[in-house]
Amino acid sequence: MSKATNITWHAAAVTKSDRRVQNGHGSCVLWFTGLSGSGKSTIANAVSSELYRNGINEYVLDGDNIRHGLNRDLGFSDHDRTENIRRIGEVAKLFVDSGTVVTTAFISPFRSDRDQVRVLFEKYEFIEVYVKCPLDECERRDPKQLYVKARRGEIKDFTGIDSPYEEPEHPEITIRSDLLTVEEAVEHIFQYMQEKNII
Ligand code: ADX
Repeated sequence: MSKATNITWHAAAVTKSDRRVQNGHGSCVLWFTGLSGSGKSTIANAVSSELYRNGINEYVLDGDNIRHGLNRDLGFSDHDRTENIRRIGEVAKLFVDSGTVVTTAFISPFRSDRDQVRVLFEKYEFIEVYVKCPLDECERRDPKQLYVKARRGEIKDFTGIDSPYEEPEHPEITIRSDLLTVEEAVEHIFQYMQEKNII
């Protein structure tokens, strides 16, 4: 809901399709979702590097990083997570408008929040990438030593422990990060984008 009144939408002089033509490739959001430690950031950054190597405009929005700046006022209550995802959805939309392939790496645990982001985009612009990894494997990896703290009760509302993760029902892409290498995951995602004529 908008609080401001007396605001007018200005049509841009340069459009998304102008930028796509000039770039020679499409733009979209690769929306990674999955448990902490599932490999979202690792795979998102690997995809980004490969896009960059191929001369494609790309950018990564990463949960841990964005929470240091734009979203530093938000915690991990259900309400704050919803606001986190809402803002990132809007930022991702700006990136897609700018002609960029933007990857986002946020747990984004709630289906309704992800679906609210999806409806901001045109068909084929929003690609939900479910980075699927069993909780016990994420816990075994525990790269930031957060699961061990959550189990000890030192972190509250930790996803998978005492805060829910709602699996995507129809993701465009599912990556089993416990079974695939990072390179295989990147290849899979590239194939999808090529099939859809985005890159
Ligand atoms: S989201 O749920 O709102 O999408 P986001 O991806 O931005 O989460 O941030 C998750 C990251 O914050 C995790 O990878 C982890 O490093 C850190 N974190 C700290 N506290 C929590 C918590 N209670 N639940 C989940 N992640 C947490």
